[in-house]
Amino acid sequence: RDEPVTGAKRVILAAPRGYCAGVDRAVVAVEKALEHYGAPVYVRKQIVHNVHVVSTLEQKGAIFVDEVDEVPRGSHLVFSAHGVSPAVVQGAKDRELEAIDATCPLVTKVHREATRFSRDDFHILLIGHAGHEEVEGTMGHAPERTTLVNSPDDVATLIVPETDKLVWLSQTTLSVDETMETVRLLRARFPHLQDPPSDDICYATQNRQVAVRKVAEDADLVIVVGSSNSSNSVRLVEVALEYGAKAAYRVDYASEIRQEWLDGVATVGVTSGASVPEVLVQQVLADLAFAGYRDVDQVVTAEEDLMFSLPKELRRDVSGQP
Ligand code: F3S
Repeated sequence: RDEPVTGAKRVILAAPRGYCAGVDRAVVAVEKALEHYGAPVYVRKQIVHNVHVVSTLEQKGAIFVDEVDEVPRGSHLVFSAHGVSPAVVQGAKDRELEAIDATCPLVTKVHREATRFSRDDFHILLIGHAGHEEVEGTMGHAPERTTLVNSPDDVATLIVPETDKLVWLSQTTLSVDETMETVRLLRARFPHLQDPPSDDICYATQNRQVAVRKVAEDADLVIVVGSSNSSNSVRLVEVALEYGAKAAYRVDYASEIRQEWLDGVATVGVTSGASVPEVLVQQVLADLAFAGYRDVDQVVTAEEDLMFSLPKELRRDVSGQP
């Protein structure tokens, strides 16, 4: 039974939302590779963590694999936006694959930091989620010198080698608030802990969290479009709940919105993760309009104009330049 809605039904749409520069580059890289080399083009892991993007590219001829040894010798293989360890790069070379590196440049930046701190005899406390592909790639750059810190709760029991040289780095798609809490606890335990040279949580993750906070303040319900394995999308649900939304849910598609979520709801906030095409948000807005939420106000908390050039292997092959 529907509860009555008090107040006019409306939508507050967060901006920035959706595609970041690294995702856009990675998706276009697979499309260009398919155009230029022809299908099939192999992709190690999901190019970005979004089911719609992956199935669309599959229809165009991309084949997604878990590991390099599933790819026929001599084929074209794209590394996903989340990045890979040096061991994976070597594995692709050993199989004589034509690798195209679509690692987001902001992840590559963290890889370089890990390599440099490791070379300078630091031990690295990497704040991130165990099993996430980005974490595996980053740890692979300093495997002997990295300890993973999963959450603030981990800090008290961490086993860390005795050293004066201790630095923290992080996954790019974490909750800003929770990461700062983890760092505070780490510093309390290891007062000599050094900060990274610049933020590892990327601009897109930060901007989407700031925008959803603003939306959540006024929303009864927040709908986040994004896939279940998309770290930054899952964080948006958590941030929405922390900042005042009465309820928040993640959906891949508009069809997953349940009627009962809207019971008694006047204001629906909508946003999307960094791997989500805008068409999926527009479908959510269309379904909400059908349910009576026709007024849409966009709340803009930042402007984004960052763009990354295509991976160098593609630039070389597509332009014919050596
Ligand atoms: Fe890169 Fe951040 Fe997007 S690390 S892939 S810009 S979410």
